This record gives sequence, structure tokens and C-alpha cells, in this order.
Amino acid sequence: MKGKFITFEGSEGCGKSTQSKMLAQFLESKGYSVVYLREPGGVKVSEKIRDLLLDAKNKISPEAETLLYMAARSEVVNEIIKPALTNGKIIVCDRFLDSTIAYQGYGLGIDLKAIKFIGLFATCGIKPDLTILLDLPLKKGLAHRKFCEDRIEQRPMSYHRRVRDGYLKLAAQEPKRIKVVKVEKEVSVTQDKIRKLVLKTIFRGS
Ligand code: TMP
Repeated sequence: MKGKFITFEGSEGCGKSTQSKMLAQFLESKGYSVVYLREPGGVKVSEKIRDLLLDAKNKISPEAETLLYMAARSEVVNEIIKPALTNGKIIVCDRFLDSTIAYQGYGLGIDLKAIKFIGLFATCGIKPDLTILLDLPLKKGLAHRKFCEDRIEQRPMSYHRRVRDGYLKLAAQEPKRIKVVKVEKEVSVTQDKIRKLVLKTIFRGS
């Protein structure tokens, strides 16, 4: 694969969407051909699955929830990610398989080996070259909750704590790929740290 695959991860309200969009625009301004995506979503079917997953009115078992996230992922991998990487594009993706490990694995207790096995199938073995894990104290991230509670956001604090701890465990297991970036008060300060990391690890190969 000729392209580069950069993913953003983190718990609720960490500012992933803002930071990932800013990075995509920055890379575009430097002349790179960039594809920006979010997960679950990115293509029509996956956006429909997203609606199903996030609608607080839906009751979904942990197993079905895991498989639905994987199905949404499989579609976006085949439709967009695989061809874009073959064509030498840079993909910036808001969430990927690490989210399922953190949210359904560490958060809901779904067997991690099963997630990794199904994940391999859903992603065709495609792994990010770099993952930016935005880390923020839980209370700050969930402060906006009462205004927009989806099916996942409305879970208790203990759940979100397991997700955050899970992410940090993942980062400790794969320090070369997953870089933890502490979220700063100023959006631009966090963005600067991300740009430096991306330029250093992806484009200068260290
Ligand atoms: P977003 O809020 O970052 O757009 O993501 C949608 C929600 O879906 C968020 O609460 C995290 C959750 N999620 C999972 O639980 N498992 C997954 O595999 C993914 C991609 C997202």
C-alpha cells in the first residue's frame, strides 16, 4: 500500500473531530491528497448503521453492537480506505478498530481476542500507520453530555472510565503506533503537537 493511514481515537468530548479535520486541512494545504473519514460512517450504508447504533431508543446487545460497528467498518474499508491507500492517498480517519477494543472490549467486556479476530476480517488486515490518542480527564469530556446524549454517551461514568483506561492500556501495548496527546485548553496548542508528531513519524519516518 502506497498511502498513509492516520487515525484519531479518544473518549467522549476529547475534540477528535475538530483536531482530525484541522489536521486533514493542514495536510491538504501542504499539497498532499487527503481523504477524510469518520467511523462509524464515511459511506451511505455505514452512516445508516451509525444512526442505528447511536439512537438512544434502540436496544442492542453488546455482541450485536460489536458486529454492527464491524459491519460499518468493513464497508468503509472496501469502498474507500483500501482503494485510497492503493492510490497513494493520505487517510485521516476519526476512529477505527481501536474504538471497538476500547468501547466494546474494555467498556462492555466483549472478549478482546474475538474483537481482534473479527477486526482482522473487517479491516482486511489494514492497520493505521499512526494513531493519535487524545486524552482528557473524563469529567471535562463528558461535561457537554446533558445536551446531546446518544446511546453510547448516556452510559454511566464507570463505563467511560473503563473506555479511557482501555485506551491507555492499548497505547502502552503499542507505543510505536499509538501516540498519546494530552488535550490542552487551546485547540491550536493541541493541534501543533499533533502536526509535529505526524510530520515526524509519518513523513520523516522516525
Ligand atoms: P463519535 O461520537 O466519535 O462520532 O463516535 C460515535 C460513538 O460510537 C462514540 O460514542 C464512540 C462509539 N464507538 C464505539 O462504541 N465503537 C466503535 O467501534 C466506534 C467506531 C465508535
